[in-house]
Amino acid sequence: MQTPNLMEAKKRTKIEPKTINYKLDNKYKDLGKNKKYYIKTYGCQMNEHDTENIKAILEQMAFQETDNMENADLILLNTCAIRENAHNKVFGMVGRIKHLKESKPNIITGMCGCMVQEEVVANEILNKYKWLDIVFGTHNINELPKLLEKSLKEKKLELEVYSIEGDIIENMPAKRDSKYKAWVNIMYGCDKFCTYCIVPYTRGKQRSRTKENILKEVNELKTNGYKEVTLLGQNVNAYGKDFNANYDMSDLLEETAKTGIERVRFVTSHPWDFTDKMIEVIAKYPNIMPYIHLPLQSGSDRILKLMGRRYTKESYLKLFNKIKETIPNVSITTDIIVGFPGETEKDFNETLDVVNTCKYDSAFTFIFSPREGTPAARMEDNTPKEIKEQRLYQLNDLVNKYAKEANQRYLNKTVPVLLENISEKDENMLMGYTDTMKLVNVKAPKDKIGQIVKVKITDIKTWSLDGEIISEN
Ligand code: 5AD
Ligand code: SF4
Repeated sequence: MQTPNLMEAKKRTKIEPKTINYKLDNKYKDLGKNKKYYIKTYGCQMNEHDTENIKAILEQMAFQETDNMENADLILLNTCAIRENAHNKVFGMVGRIKHLKESKPNIITGMCGCMVQEEVVANEILNKYKWLDIVFGTHNINELPKLLEKSLKEKKLELEVYSIEGDIIENMPAKRDSKYKAWVNIMYGCDKFCTYCIVPYTRGKQRSRTKENILKEVNELKTNGYKEVTLLGQNVNAYGKDFNANYDMSDLLEETAKTGIERVRFVTSHPWDFTDKMIEVIAKYPNIMPYIHLPLQSGSDRILKLMGRRYTKESYLKLFNKIKETIPNVSITTDIIVGFPGETEKDFNETLDVVNTCKYDSAFTFIFSPREGTPAARMEDNTPKEIKEQRLYQLNDLVNKYAKEANQRYLNKTVPVLLENISEKDENMLMGYTDTMKLVNVKAPKDKIGQIVKVKITDIKTWSLDGEIISEN
């Protein structure tokens, strides 16, 4: 058994990460024969992609997927630690799983992902949820076959969670959710240590994959018919900084665009590392999507400083304006936290001021959630919950107003849409996204699924657009 440790998770040394090549040992090949698995994923795209890896590993072991938890022989929760409410949702689900396990003691139950990397959560599991069978962290997904076998043999909880800076695991298989869009990890971990954020503790040190491995993956995806790749990392703009190799995110973006894959995007950016060269590359290549997620977090210099964000309102706005001026039709979205410890009305008004200036295409907004072990969790916080909620509502109203305005600009325009699936809203329509990440419900024949087509926008809804395919496609 290996339990996580906060002090270890915080450490950053100069030790180079190891690259481990994943390969399934033949002895695990039939472990899941005639067994079904169910996996539920919480949290960000990184977790979603980890789930794609976990699914593929399980299928290599002959497990089959089911979307009905009641039918599963193996139930896994891939968890998120970013805010308290994710934590509560997961433990609610664990309660449901306990019931199932009582009636079917042979099912295998497990937890993985960011939450179990937290020392407090691992201790909670050991105290209250010892009936779980396997618990593994973000650093050892590759060990899943071994842990499963051991748990099946020994019929006791296998908890292996490492608080290490982390390795790079290559050649992990992926059962991708989409046949047209793919996540491609370009880096793991984060070294920014924003004071509110648990990610540097749960995901370890920043480790960039080599450009060769990334470009090989993109080229393979292209050959297999994929139309869009999203370069994925906690802070992609810092790509390559851990190499000292004179090769950065702008170079990687450019080379990815040159593979000729039809669409390239990236998440998430930190304003701190966003270079002019990146902006120029995005503007230059038509297959780099004019869509940028640029987290603001707060508009107050005082709060930004307390958050450890290392930019000011002024420098953020300067970057924002440069992006808007250089990349035609760019859509910019953001993340904002309200109610950070000590945030005053004046600080909050600074945030509203930035939103009024930037008029974001959309924004994810959150109330600050203290995460044990992070510096912000120890800061004095006197703002009542009701005031924080009020600020969130006020912010959301403003964000929604600008989101609608941004959508309005699309009316009667013709835009490229990657058609992905039947629309959830109407089975006679298809759904897809523009290159600016606007959701569109499209009147189009089903055989167009998987293609990027020209769509004329005919109606604007609050959260989506309606359109019809234009005949020259
Ligand atoms: N409380 C509230 N929101 C948070 N985020 C990260 N940590 C916290 C926290 N402790 C938000 C940030 C980040 C997004 C992914 O989640 O806005 O950009
Ligand atoms: Fe968290 Fe900041 Fe790293 Fe983003 S850049 S993952 S907010 S520490």
